[in-house]
Amino acid sequence: MAIRLIILAAGKGTRMKSQLPKVLHPLAGKPLLGHVIDTGLSLNASGITVVIGHGAEKVKQSIEQNVQWAMQTEQLGTAHAVMQGLEGIQDDDTVLLTYGDVPLTRASTYQKLLDVVTDSCIGLLTLQMDDPTGYGRIIRQGNSADGDIIGIVEQKDASPQQLAIKEGNCGVISIRGKWLLSLLQQIGNDNAQGEYYLTDLISLAVENKVSVQAIHPDDAWETDGVNSRVQLATLERVHQWNQAQTLMEGGVTLHDPSRVDIRGVLTHGTDVDIDINAVFIGHCHVGNNVSIGPNCTFCNATIGDGTTIKANCVIEDSVIGENGDIGPYARLRPGCEFDDNVKIGNFVEVKKARIGKGSKVNHLSYVGDAELAENVNVGAGTITCNFDGANKHKTEIGAGAFIGSNSALVAPVVIGANATVGAGSTISKEAPEGQLTVTRAKQTTIDSWKRPVKES
Ligand code: UD1
Ligand code: MG
Repeated sequence: MAIRLIILAAGKGTRMKSQLPKVLHPLAGKPLLGHVIDTGLSLNASGITVVIGHGAEKVKQSIEQNVQWAMQTEQLGTAHAVMQGLEGIQDDDTVLLTYGDVPLTRASTYQKLLDVVTDSCIGLLTLQMDDPTGYGRIIRQGNSADGDIIGIVEQKDASPQQLAIKEGNCGVISIRGKWLLSLLQQIGNDNAQGEYYLTDLISLAVENKVSVQAIHPDDAWETDGVNSRVQLATLERVHQWNQAQTLMEGGVTLHDPSRVDIRGVLTHGTDVDIDINAVFIGHCHVGNNVSIGPNCTFCNATIGDGTTIKANCVIEDSVIGENGDIGPYARLRPGCEFDDNVKIGNFVEVKKARIGKGSKVNHLSYVGDAELAENVNVGAGTITCNFDGANKHKTEIGAGAFIGSNSALVAPVVIGANATVGAGSTISKEAPEGQLTVTRAKQTTIDSWKRPVKES
């Protein structure tokens, strides 16, 4: 008795006006279809089949999850689409049929649908809608709200009386494999659209003495599909708001919950304070008492307890230790590993660098392919010249070293522990431990010099 999912994703998505297949448009950084697949995986489904057609190759290439693909070369309707995805379905499986462009249905809602399935009962997701235009209408026995469900009529096939019904078909069905396999064969295309309607499954089930149990989502947005970029943006906001709410419930202060975006997973400690316009991409973690200033972007970043990230920082694929002080306007590119109490000031770019405890790079510097031990002080305008035009080289700076402002450290190069580099030096050989190394030209004063005056 395995759980199987069939996700329909062969449609074109004309209204997106896009080269990209609709189900690949991202919501919170992940394709719409990826959301549906992940929800399916969380149900421990033993198999997920995705029926694709338009842009099939692109869809296959772009989806990372392990699913079974089925091709529907001509879009002849939702029942026809499901028929393409039946490979491997067994009589005693419980099958959930859903759409790849409806990204936010909760796993708990799917679970409720699966739970009602028996050999003589199928589940159907329906919703009372203020405006059910475009949706199939749920037909109940005796036209009464508590009558048994006996069928679904599509908008285009509905009588004026049926159009007045407010209960809409959300499109998700749960059903025993044997009923799916046998009833699908009986569906024809004699209707207004000349399509094979999956919705005909309902009346056929009832004819076979199978009852239909309606399940409703907790929130209407769970059943919203994406047909246009406006709907995509609307669902993005719903999703981001939901995530913001979860963060706040978990002990994070958000200065404005409508101005934080999580495109991936953000884990956190307590008493985290996040100012406006923070974007978190991929897998990020912020520790206890982390404070984040406005307009910061994080991508696969880990921020240690007590660290402050000031305004306008971009931090990518990096790990920051505890009680650090970063920014404003710091750019940390991939491969930064900072120990505790590191200070990175304004307009500093750091790439692939290990920086030891208590070290500081306070102003206007580039530190790349470098290893700094603890308590190093890098003066303003220092550049690690890591690239010779062909290869990258490393700069190593020992504990307690002091690099004077506007120095160029030409890698590969080593600065010894407690060494001092005089301001304005270009260092291309080792600067020995504990000594002053300076390459500055001698200062002269020309006392006979006269400042030119303007010729009249
Ligand atoms: C369908 C339902 C309708 C329901 C609505 C909910 C049918 C006949 N109607 O209508 O009762 O209220 O969804 O949104 O099922 N698809 C394919 N291959 C096809 C046709 C469709 O893969 O040949 C896919 C589409 O990509 C889409 C989904 O199935 O993801 C639904 O198709 P769509 O044409 O949007 O169905 P509706 O007409 O909206
Ligand atoms: Mg349609």
